[in-house]
Amino acid sequence: MTTMTTTTTPQQTVLEARGVTMRFGGLTAVRNVDLTVSTGEIVGLIGPNGAGKTTFFNCLTGLYHPTEGTVAYKGTTLPPKPHLVTKAGMARTFQNIRLFANMTVLENVLVGRHTRTKEGLWSALLRGPGFRKAEAASEERAMELLKFTGLDHKRDHLARSLPYGEQRKLEIARALASEPGLLLLDEPTAGMNPQETRATEELVFAIRDKGIAVLVIEHDMRFIFNLCDRVAVLVQGEKLVEGTSDVVQGDERVVAAYLGTPFEGAPEDTALAEVQAAESHAAEDGTAGTAEAAEEGDAAQGDDDK
Ligand SMILES: Nc1ncnc2c1ncn2[C@@H]1O[C@H](COP(=O)(O)OP(=O)(O)OP(=O)(O)O)[C@@H](O)[C@H]1O
Ligand SMILES: [Mg+2]
Repeated sequence: MTTMTTTTTPQQTVLEARGVTMRFGGLTAVRNVDLTVSTGEIVGLIGPNGAGKTTFFNCLTGLYHPTEGTVAYKGTTLPPKPHLVTKAGMARTFQNIRLFANMTVLENVLVGRHTRTKEGLWSALLRGPGFRKAEAASEERAMELLKFTGLDHKRDHLARSLPYGEQRKLEIARALASEPGLLLLDEPTAGMNPQETRATEELVFAIRDKGIAVLVIEHDMRFIFNLCDRVAVLVQGEKLVEGTSDVVQGDERVVAAYLGTPFEGAPEDTALAEVQAAESHAAEDGTAGTAEAAEEGDAAQGDDDK
């Protein structure tokens, strides 16, 4: 018999980015951005193409050395070195999938585990009992993650042979292999069909339920607003708005800057109004009768065919 225990862990700040700025020559891709993510949270990062979302991720994960600002994980400021960031507990996936194409699915996940294995180079070269034991444990954990992401049946397939959606899942499995406390996903559903997107939504909820906080970039608004406790909007490198899904969806600045709804009186509106006016005018004139005539003609045609 098993007993259920429920533990309520107090919310802790997992990620704290302060005043992050990234300049490339004359271009400021990210300007003075603050962002926090706490345990148990799924936070979304949205914004138009070129807004600086991926650049911000690169600053968080040590791929870029931010021009200004600091990034702290669970209260400790991180050095801008990707392997140290991963080791500290932050893992990511990439907008442009980065898998080892000629390695198997399982091997890709095992690579993701290397920051968590203690066995050193000599142990690996000599393949002593300590190494073999660690290797078996790593493989067991990797298989658990493949099962969790629904890829266990593909363990021996080459990564490059997987359909696009499964490659994205494999990237997630590999990121999870480093046992992170925060997972950063850069457009996890890009190129997926609606069913795969739904499944990815469920996967992200399941990751959160395992106690891993999630920061996710996505252009699919339905995905973002279904999933996220909080959403931050970047526009031209600056954080424009941050709030719950409801607040962000209803914010006029976001609608204008990102969702692309034209302003009142914009040319599209005028053009549409002109077309509608012309149509109603035509109906009043009786010229709309041509549509009925066409339908009758179709019906006659249909009879002839029988
Ligand atoms: N390494 C770099 N060198 C110079 N400019 C860069 C570099 N990386 C990004 N940029 C520029 O920074 C800006 C932000 O790009 P970024 O890729 O972060 O946008 P994004 O919000 O992720 O867009 P998308 O939604 O299209 O992925 C763009 O103008 C881009 O050209
Ligand atoms: Mg991007």
